[in-house]
Amino acid sequence: MRLGDPPSPGQLDPAERVSPDELAALQLRRLRRTLRHAYDNVPHYRRAFDEHGVHPDDCKELGDLAAFPFTTKDDLRDGYPFGMFAVPREQVARVHASSGTTGRPTVVGYTRGDLDTWAGLMARSLRAAGGRPGDIVHVAYGYGLFTGGLGAHYGAERLGCTVVPVSGGMTPRQVRLIADFRPDVIMVTPSYMLALLDEFEAQGLDPRACSLRIGVFGAEPWTEEMRREIEDRFDLHAVDVYGLSEVMGPGVAQECVESKDGLHVWEDHFYPEIVDPFTGAPAEEGELVLTTLTRQAMPVVRYRTRDLTRLLPGTARPAFRRMRKVAGRTDDMIILRGVNVFPTQIEEVVLRTPGLSPHFQLHLTRPGRLDVMTVRVEARPGFETPEGRREAAAALCRAVKDTVGVSVAAEVVDPETLERSVGKLRRVVDRRGGG
Ligand code: DLL
Repeated sequence: MRLGDPPSPGQLDPAERVSPDELAALQLRRLRRTLRHAYDNVPHYRRAFDEHGVHPDDCKELGDLAAFPFTTKDDLRDGYPFGMFAVPREQVARVHASSGTTGRPTVVGYTRGDLDTWAGLMARSLRAAGGRPGDIVHVAYGYGLFTGGLGAHYGAERLGCTVVPVSGGMTPRQVRLIADFRPDVIMVTPSYMLALLDEFEAQGLDPRACSLRIGVFGAEPWTEEMRREIEDRFDLHAVDVYGLSEVMGPGVAQECVESKDGLHVWEDHFYPEIVDPFTGAPAEEGELVLTTLTRQAMPVVRYRTRDLTRLLPGTARPAFRRMRKVAGRTDDMIILRGVNVFPTQIEEVVLRTPGLSPHFQLHLTRPGRLDVMTVRVEARPGFETPEGRREAAAALCRAVKDTVGVSVAAEVVDPETLERSVGKLRRVVDRRGGG
């Protein structure tokens, strides 16, 4: 796999080279300003802080943040559409929104200054991923209310790249554009990257021979096994980017290509905490909670992301702690006969089972009194024979039992029969309600 040298210290933002003391002082200054800005300008925060008996002036050191109330997705929804803005609406240069498949969407706003900060952080992320000025960047994250497309787009432009703003969908055309424009970098969800892989093969093109050097994958959980699959099949470097619209969009945390060991949280702009998802108490491993440190239009204090991870010390960017790859969301967790199961755990096992492709869905049913999970997974081409399928299904069930500790059923289906995502993948099909 071709890769340039990691950036020399001189190529990093000055902010990426701060000492721990400088960072802590900067964070405290910015945190105090954020708490004051939220309290003065957003009725929700004034009410919540007052009810909690805390005031922005109580925050004298970073640890004091723990006394402030959490903010949840419901709090943001209650403010629909513009109630969480901390600046007059006229100063909001852009809005984005979550998909809102359940209930009202959450709307987020950005001032010109926020958009500038975001582009700078996405440029920083893309450089950490191995992108360089002059690269051609194919953006296949969706453009629109979703933050993926425009977030990646402006970051790549800021870094000095040539951007191809393809968005998601029209898969045959994506592959043709990759073959013709010869991009160095692709930014896309890992699940849609797999759909592109199929299409390369359908068009008789060798994915390993394509020009892509780097893939920047995020917006959904993916595993080390998936990294290996994508890296081997495309001969590129696959790195993880994390973010959420409530806090900004992509570019909250980024994995460095030279270490591929988790995602550095850009702590000069976001303050991370980990809490127990049930009690809210500080924890080593658990739910990520984020506070924005520089957002103007919509500061967010102690936002409960529902994403499960842990914080680790900095490596490739020593100033910033890393977050381990996200294992899943609290709301993706399946409780199967008393055992907690995340789709990523099944992904690991599927990808280690010979004869199985990375395309799978988890079907939940309740035929009697007990829940049943069936892993519907496509055979890899060449393994479609009845014996091949039977063996692969049996091996999968055994491996899930051994590693995850639950019994599941497995159904190995023909290649290219399961639905493909064009953006975020829906892994779980829950029919327990009889639907
Ligand atoms: O997905 C922003 C984004 C776009 C991130 C493109 C990366 C790349 P939302 O639609 O608000 O924003 O969804 C945020 O997606 O809370 C996580 O559950 C999940 N997520 C995002 N990045 C990752 C990742 C964008 N790298 C929600 N690994 C988050 C695991 C991720 N989950």
